[in-house]
Amino acid sequence: MKLLIDSASIDDIRHVYKNYPVDGVTTNPSILLKAGKEPYECLDEITGYFNAAGIKDYELHVQVISTDVKGMIDEAERIVKRYGKETYIKIPAVVEGLYAINILSAQGYHTTATAIYNAHQAYLAGKAGATYVAPYVNRMTNLYGDGIEIVYQIFAIFANNNMSTKILGASFKTLDQITDLAELGIDAATVPPELIKKMLDDKDVNDAVAKFNDDFHKLCKDDKATM
Ligand code: E4P
Repeated sequence: MKLLIDSASIDDIRHVYKNYPVDGVTTNPSILLKAGKEPYECLDEITGYFNAAGIKDYELHVQVISTDVKGMIDEAERIVKRYGKETYIKIPAVVEGLYAINILSAQGYHTTATAIYNAHQAYLAGKAGATYVAPYVNRMTNLYGDGIEIVYQIFAIFANNNMSTKILGASFKTLDQITDLAELGIDAATVPPELIKKMLDDKDVNDAVAKFNDDFHKLCKDDKATM
């Protein structure tokens, strides 16, 4: 399962990239608002960081904000012109969005059908040719009881119907939600930086490592290792 950073904060992206094995970045308008900069300047900064750091193999998912099909397609063209053909165009899985996904995927664009709240929506997005569907795990849990169960259903629908659309789990709020879907074997998860950091923030592990170091130093003269 790929692990993407669900953030547009350049400081968080830099920190996570330096310290954790991750595969890219997803943004949406609300995430860009949190970053507090002009959206495309913010995205320029993120891709500028990748270029400067020599990071080549990354996924970047950028959401369109148009509500009509032509507007979505025009935006997709502008996004790809600015950030490259490998960019994933995030399009809400509503009626107009699926139409745009259908056209764009036929033209070879990577598309991510976003704001997936149920399995039938994911099924239609898959049929429209989306590269990814992004089910909103925690939002579904809040609304319907168990978002994980719905992702299981989407996974089975794609597998049992030979659909090649991949699953990008989104809207995570707990570590268990992430590991449950890694266990299932979905293709990717996009996770906020705070939650990625939490994956290695375990008191028991830190205590165990500190004890190993203490024990070693008890054997060393003048508290220095001899090697
Ligand atoms: C993906 O990029 C989604 O837009 C995002 O994960 C939604 O997360 P939220 O439910 O915390 O807003």
